[in-house]
Amino acid sequence: MGIEFLKNENIFHLSGGDVSYILKIYKNAFPMHLYWGKRLSDPAISWYLEAPYRRKKLLEGTEPDDPMFLHEFWPYEYPEYGMSDYRPAALEVVGQDGCCISELRYEGYEILEGSVELPGLPSVWAEKEDAQTLKLILKDQILQLQAELYYTVFEKTGAITRHTVLKNLGKDSLKIKKALSMSLDMKHAPYEMLQLSGTALREHWIERRKLGIGETYLESTRGISSHQENPFFALVEKETTEQNGDAYGVTLVYSGNFLAGVSCDMYRSARVQIGIHPGNFGWRLEAGEEFVTPQAVLSYSQKGLNGMSSKFHDLFLNHLYKGKFQHAPRPIVINTWEAAYFNFDHQTVLELAKKAAKAGIEMLVLDDGWFGHRDDDTTSLGDWFENSRKLPKELKGLAEDVNALGMQFGLWFEPEMVSPDSELYRNHPDWCIHINGRKRSQWRHQLYLDLSRKEVQDYIIDSLSNVLSSANISYVKWDCNRRISEPGSEGLPPERQDELLHRYVLGLYHVMDVLTKRFPDVLFENCASGGARMDAGMMYYFPQTWASDNSDAVCRLKIQYGTSLCYPPVMTTSHISASPNHQMLRQTPLDFRAAVSYPFNLGYELNLCKMSDEEIEKISEQTALYKKIRPLVQGGKFYRLLSPFEGNQTAWMTVSQDETEFLVWYYKDFADPEEAYINVRLTGLEEKAHYQAEEGNVYSGDMLMNLGLPIQWKNGDCFYQMWHFKRLDGIDF
Ligand code: DGJ
Repeated sequence: MGIEFLKNENIFHLSGGDVSYILKIYKNAFPMHLYWGKRLSDPAISWYLEAPYRRKKLLEGTEPDDPMFLHEFWPYEYPEYGMSDYRPAALEVVGQDGCCISELRYEGYEILEGSVELPGLPSVWAEKEDAQTLKLILKDQILQLQAELYYTVFEKTGAITRHTVLKNLGKDSLKIKKALSMSLDMKHAPYEMLQLSGTALREHWIERRKLGIGETYLESTRGISSHQENPFFALVEKETTEQNGDAYGVTLVYSGNFLAGVSCDMYRSARVQIGIHPGNFGWRLEAGEEFVTPQAVLSYSQKGLNGMSSKFHDLFLNHLYKGKFQHAPRPIVINTWEAAYFNFDHQTVLELAKKAAKAGIEMLVLDDGWFGHRDDDTTSLGDWFENSRKLPKELKGLAEDVNALGMQFGLWFEPEMVSPDSELYRNHPDWCIHINGRKRSQWRHQLYLDLSRKEVQDYIIDSLSNVLSSANISYVKWDCNRRISEPGSEGLPPERQDELLHRYVLGLYHVMDVLTKRFPDVLFENCASGGARMDAGMMYYFPQTWASDNSDAVCRLKIQYGTSLCYPPVMTTSHISASPNHQMLRQTPLDFRAAVSYPFNLGYELNLCKMSDEEIEKISEQTALYKKIRPLVQGGKFYRLLSPFEGNQTAWMTVSQDETEFLVWYYKDFADPEEAYINVRLTGLEEKAHYQAEEGNVYSGDMLMNLGLPIQWKNGDCFYQMWHFKRLDGIDF
């Protein structure tokens, strides 16, 4: 396992778990992709490279320097623009002559233990014993451009990360126009593509479509990763299900504009790519400088989508966020947003906290409206000091009163924004992203602060630090409620304006890095009008994300199901809200709402002061139950069983890491007349083991996985069932 170099064939074999990734340095010049999939026992497959390419024209020029050498058709690892490869390039660089061309040739390699850091960027990381990294060094002699392609392969799962470092070794500046994080050419692609698409209130819906010849790309050009497309996709066979078949997952550890997808040529070879969106992107690379692309993450499994997701979950739980909360129990939160919106004061928040404390809730998070003179969304973003009318005892006094109830206290910020009606904007009108002479478009009455500028980064760091040091604040909800328009910066010269959107993301990462290190005991929650910036880049700093502003339990089934394709449930906060629900106006039973949230990171988002004693009693039971199952749901392995995208039923399960217990949840959102009796077939169990359900029945693993768990039939909407099984060891049946 790890990285093997087959000298005779100039082949690198990266392997881990049940996965192989094989590439060859063809003609000792060009890294070419040979294989990514189920582990091969014999990686010496050089012959395979030329076999499908024995076309007359292609082989007329056999040496790289031969003018007849054609780049088209060959399966590249990092294709470049300007030579005879007409498929989408991963790299486009302009030299001093103004021409856009490069031809990187192999110079050498290194094999390193563990992973490498990406300066200024978040990344999936590995200790020395968990992974090995291959560094391929390539060079364009004319541009004096060096490219280092990094591949880290994880021992346990065979997951692979990739990124590229570009170095200007010459004397003249170069202009990078496109530098994707990874590209690979897979042969013969009878694939379907799965993506997580949506909009606000409808995040991460699964779309599955057949790939045809041509280009199928997902993108965000909004400045953040976006509601519309998540930076994730999977390639699957037509037959691939949750449990079986090939699933190739690709995601990006990045939170800005991205491009991701596949280009199929006329021979159905699929070029698979992901990276920074090249639209309005450029980077001037001066002599001696380097540019580092974000990191791409690849997860392959032959055990269907669940197999692919498990590997992503394992990476993101164990090799992404490094802080104190990585494996710590996440508190049950009550958030004031849907409970009070902007209408609260010290006393009303305290009343809510009292009810919450009695109901076993552990943390009160004060959402929007506590600062400046903000009573609606038209003012005060950027003025991070208390609204003394609402909070006469200041945040300190409120936090103390909440703490006195035995609860922790948390606070909402939207640090990257400024309201035109704010002291900050009046003092620094040039600090927002804008283009002089053009209008400054507002969304929700707000503008983006220009985080590419050091003084703006420092302002955010200082103002948040002041607030976080002023009171006992244990949790921050970090929101972001608009998308970038008029992308211009007063801090950049004209020839660097196309660097702004990437510099913005780098600035954001710097701010988050400083604040999370300065306040290591604060639990940060990521939010962007719900799940518009739910990506592995944010998760490196903030270990949980508010997946959607849609808190309706029926809608959450789809949102959470889709989200789990790439992201672990503990990183997805899921709050029980009021009925009728505020977004969908739908009525659902309190128990059903709780059952939808339990398998994720549970919280509440409703006004407990308006609820009856029986309802509060029920909530106490829910929090008590959640605390009991919390280690399992927050630390376990999650599998999807029935998809809400295929009918009115959803099921999923969580198995403890040591596989000694598991929970199963089944939901039927809307009843159909005379429905069939169904069994839910489980997964992830040991065939020969026996498991006992809480009510006493004992089932074998193979029975649960093949025959399935019978669902009790009940008429009516919003029906659910939940089971808790424990493994029986050493019992002779
Ligand atoms: C959008 C978030 O997604 C909501 O949860 C809430 O925090 C509001 N912003 C507050 O303005």
